[in-house]
Amino acid sequence: MRTPLVAGNWKMLGTRASNRELLDALAAGIGGLEGIECAVCVPYPYLGETAGRLAKTRIAWGAQNLSEHKEGAFTGEVSASMLAEFGCRYVLVGHSERRQLYAETDAVVAAKYAAVQAHGMKPILCVGETLAEREAGRTEEVVLRQLEVVCSLNGEASFKAAVVAYEPVWAIGTGRTAAPQQAQAVHAFLRGRVPAGTRIIYGGSVKADNAAALFAMQDVDGGLIGGASRVAADFIAVVQHAARAAQRKG
Ligand code: PGA
Repeated sequence: MRTPLVAGNWKMLGTRASNRELLDALAAGIGGLEGIECAVCVPYPYLGETAGRLAKTRIAWGAQNLSEHKEGAFTGEVSASMLAEFGCRYVLVGHSERRQLYAETDAVVAAKYAAVQAHGMKPILCVGETLAEREAGRTEEVVLRQLEVVCSLNGEASFKAAVVAYEPVWAIGTGRTAAPQQAQAVHAFLRGRVPAGTRIIYGGSVKADNAAALFAMQDVDGGLIGGASRVAADFIAVVQHAARAAQRKG
């Protein structure tokens, strides 16, 4: 059985005060939940405080990006070893906002993935097509290319220590979710390209009211949650839906 993962992607949101409240509410609400993994991927400056507040819980923490370089004169960048020092378990790589707004190529994403694994953390590799690509019938071609570049640099076995997140770009932050069957179709396609046991999670406008239907899909092993991860009650509800779905799938 694949243990589901629900990861929050806080993006560039929050303040020290609002984060404290959120983290304490998550610790109280889902900090001891078993049979499921949850994590929050927070902005860099908040990692230390997040680590402290979640230390006694089962909730993991991580980052949303990192440098592909080991160390050196890369002003403004953050390395994998720095993130590892803060006890990060997960690091997002290849989020569509990084690919689109910061021109991250598949090759850079693959190098970042390698850096995460070299420091004993797990990359959450985000893949997904734009609306134009979907409408042109190119969804499978696009996600396969994104996966294969990572695979050719890191090897297929590397996926055993990674998570794949299918995030259709048209569903991110738009309130427009993939229908459960649409998500399942892409997840099943990806499933055939990664080693057995690799978790494939879905992201894109997952909320408390659509999570149950998405997580009920056979190949959807949890979610990557943006907007709803900033509201404690919503994130807790999403995590509980994932835990219930996992129990049903057995
Ligand atoms: P969303 O974001 O849930 O707000 O659509 C998902 C993501 O960007 O990972």
